Amino acid sequence: MKGIILAGGNGTRMYPITKSISKQLLCVYDKPMVYYPLATLLSAGITDILLISNPNDLPSYIKLLGSGTQLGIKISYIEQLKPEGLAQAFIIAADFIGSEDVCMVLGDNIFHGNGFNELLVNSVVKVKQSQNATVFGYYVNDPNRYGVLNFDKSNKISSIKEKPLNPNSNYAVIGLYFYPNSIIKIAKSIKPSKRGELEITSINNIYLDNNKLNVELLGSGYTWLDAGNPDSLLEASNFIQTIEKRQGKKVACIEEIAFNKGYINFDQLKHLAHTLSTSEYGQYLLNIKSK
Ligand code: DAU
Repeated sequence: MKGIILAGGNGTRMYPITKSISKQLLCVYDKPMVYYPLATLLSAGITDILLISNPNDLPSYIKLLGSGTQLGIKISYIEQLKPEGLAQAFIIAADFIGSEDVCMVLGDNIFHGNGFNELLVNSVVKVKQSQNATVFGYYVNDPNRYGVLNFDKSNKISSIKEKPLNPNSNYAVIGLYFYPNSIIKIAKSIKPSKRGELEITSINNIYLDNNKLNVELLGSGYTWLDAGNPDSLLEASNFIQTIEKRQGKKVACIEEIAFNKGYINFDQLKHLAHTLSTSEYGQYLLNIKSK
């Protein structure tokens, strides 16, 4: 399965912070925001990754993450000239996806929870075997900010509505999507919504109508944060700080995940640690023990 990180957009909800820096490069406590979606893909076992961003910001991502070889993975980059919708990613990435299945994670989405890694790995297998798409619902207080699951009287999901004024449920669709290869054809078939975007929700409704959408509701043991505005960014930083300080273990430490997954060996990990050793993050890497 291939992986996509969508890290473009205008970032206007964060102005003036994002006038000169991409939102997904802002720090979430001790690391750039983009480390979190990257960690999600690495944890899912996905090692061939395409990062999509706008032409201005793409060079900064290349500077930060390079070709990925230092992590034992492959990272490629492609421009999205204008932010014309989440679903456009699959059109831009069609050559990259080729004949494989694909997982897309939004560059400002952060996930945490016991069992989340198993859920990711299982989703990769499920999509491959069933050729159905998988998306996740998460109970939130403010569903109208998101794509929202509509349930019918028998509690079956009947549709997904993008940012509804009167949400039918509190279940938001999180920014993590697993699709079979049919995604390319479906993305190319949809039309822009009233707000002029190619909506991921239109795609998900097509899979749903064709009985090919697997929706998993995440329980309260999982945390989903979208660091898309100043408040949610601060909340995300505070959350990560609290967990890391309490548990003594870093969240979304891409070097540690690459080592644990066997993408790099202990010597490669130590080399990376030394390049970062003046920071607390680097010191953490230096203290990781060999297996
Ligand atoms: O966070 C989950 C939600 O993400 C879903 O529940 C919604 O269904 C989905 O539409 C999306 O809603 P948002 O309002 O959060 O989308 P936003 O426009 O903020 O874009 C999400 C990320 O993707 C953001 O980091 C910017 C980036 N992006 C967005 C667009 C529209 C791009 O890179 N290119 C784009 O064309």
